Amino acid sequence: MKKLRSFYMHLKHPHTIKRKWIYPLALGSTLSLSLLFLLTLTPLAGNRLYNYYTTAGTSVFIENKLRPIGISDAVRPVRFAYLISGSNHDGDMLRRTLLALYHPNNRYVVHLDAESSPEERLRLHEFVVNHPLFMKFGNVVMITKANLVTYRGPTMVANTLHAAAMLLRDGGDWDWFINLSASDYPLVTQDDLIYVFSTLARDVNFIDHTSNIGWKEFQRAKPVIVDPGLYMSEKSDVFWITQRRSVPTAFKLFTGSAWMVLSRQFVDFCIWGWDNLPRTVLMYYANFISSPEGYFHTVICNTKEFRNTTVNSDLHFIAWDNPPKQHPHYLTLQDMTRMIDSNAPFARKFHQDEPVLDRIDSELLFRGPDRIVPGGWCAGSRESGSDPCSVAGNLTRLDPTSGAQRLQKLVSSLLSEESFRPRQCR
Ligand SMILES: *[C@@H]1O[C@H](CO)[C@@H](O)[C@H](O)[C@H]1NC(C)=O
Ligand SMILES: *[C@@H]1O[C@H](CO)[C@@H](O)[C@H](O)[C@H]1NC(C)=O
Ligand SMILES: *[C@@H]1O[C@H](CO)[C@@H](O)[C@H](O)[C@H]1NC(C)=O
Repeated sequence: MKKLRSFYMHLKHPHTIKRKWIYPLALGSTLSLSLLFLLTLTPLAGNRLYNYYTTAGTSVFIENKLRPIGISDAVRPVRFAYLISGSNHDGDMLRRTLLALYHPNNRYVVHLDAESSPEERLRLHEFVVNHPLFMKFGNVVMITKANLVTYRGPTMVANTLHAAAMLLRDGGDWDWFINLSASDYPLVTQDDLIYVFSTLARDVNFIDHTSNIGWKEFQRAKPVIVDPGLYMSEKSDVFWITQRRSVPTAFKLFTGSAWMVLSRQFVDFCIWGWDNLPRTVLMYYANFISSPEGYFHTVICNTKEFRNTTVNSDLHFIAWDNPPKQHPHYLTLQDMTRMIDSNAPFARKFHQDEPVLDRIDSELLFRGPDRIVPGGWCAGSRESGSDPCSVAGNLTRLDPTSGAQRLQKLVSSLLSEESFRPRQCR
C-alpha cells in the first residue's frame, strides 16, 4: 500500500511531471525526431518527455511489426485486475475469454452467478485451480460462493464491488480494474494493452457517460424498483413500486455504458468510502433500474477529485441494430472489419464458439486453440507446435503487435483536445 502510494507520488511529483497526462513518447513531431527519441531515451527519462496530451498526431510506432520494447525500471509496467463474470451455460465461454486475457502480472476474479449449475461451477473451479500457469502465478481466483445477480438490478453492481474488494484485498498490486462478461472478447493482446496503458497517467478512468438522461428521467430515475436478489435465496425479477420519486438534487445523475476501465485510486475511493458519496449513491441506486449504467458514472462525475480523470469511452466495440433493440447484436465474421477499424481493445457480444472468435484468435491475438495469448514473457520454444508460454521468461518484457498501434490511435484521439476535456461529465 505504502509502496504504491509513493509510486503515485513519484508520478505526480512536480519536478518530474508538470501536467497530469503522461505521454512520454508524444514529443517528436516528425518521424525522424520520434525515432531519435525512441533510440536515445528510455520512457520517463527526462522532464521534457512529459507533455500535456495535446496533439493526437505523432505515433510512437515506426515499423509495422514492432520490436519488443522494454519499459525501464522507472516505470513498473502497468497491471490490470479483471472481473470476468457469467451466468448459466457461460462456463466454457468464460474459460476462453480468461485464456485470451491472461498475463502473469495481471489479476483475475472469475464468477459464475447462482443461476449456473453447481456442476458447471465446479468444472470452472477445477480448471482454475489446476491450470499450471494459474497455479504458478496464483493470480486467478474464482468466487466460489456464487452471487445471485439480476441483470438490471443493484445485485449486478454489488457483484462488481464484491470482486473489486477481493482484488484490493489480495494485494491490490494493480492499476486498472476492468469489468467484463463471458461474452466479451479482447481484440488486442495483453502486451498491447500494457504497452499503451504504460504511457498513460495512472489515474485516468475510461467510462462512457452523459448527464443528458433524456427519456431515462421518466423511465429510470423516477420509478422505484426492488431487486429481490438482494434478500431472497431464489432469483425472481425486479418489481416496480407504484409511487415515483423525484430526480435527485443532492447530486446530478449521469448514465452511460456498463463497461469501464477504472483506476485503482477510483476503485479505492468507491470501496473504502472515506467520503460518504459512494455509499449514499449506492444506496440510492439500490432502487434504480439498470443501476450498472449509472452508479460509477454518477459517483465519478460528482466528485471533484475524479471528474477530471474521466475519458468518455467504454473501450468496447458494441454493434446495435438499427433501430436499436434492447440488446446489441451478436457479432459474426461480417463484423470483423468494423471491429478492427474501431481500434477498440474489447468487443461484445459473441455467441459461444462463434467462428469470428477463431479468426480473432489467429489474426489479432496469435492464440492457438485452448492456449494463452503469447507475449514477451513467453520464453519457451515455438518449434513443432509447442506452446512458448509453457516456459515463463522475463515477465516485464513486452512484445506488442499491431494491436498496440490500433489502440494507441484510439487513445490518442480520445485524449485529443477536441474530445478529452470537452466531453468530461457533461
Ligand atoms: C526484463 O525485460 C526488461 C524489458 O525488456 C529489461 O529492462 C530487464 O532488464 C529484463 N530483466 C531481466 C532480469 O532480464
Ligand atoms: C460489469 O460486467 C457485467 C458483465 O457481467 C455487466 O453486465 C455489468 O453491468 C458491468 N458493470 C457494472 C457497473 O457492474
Ligand atoms: C478540473 O478541470 C477544471 C477545468 O479544466 C479546472 O478548473 C479544475 O480546477 C480541475 N479540478 C481539479 C480538482 O483538478
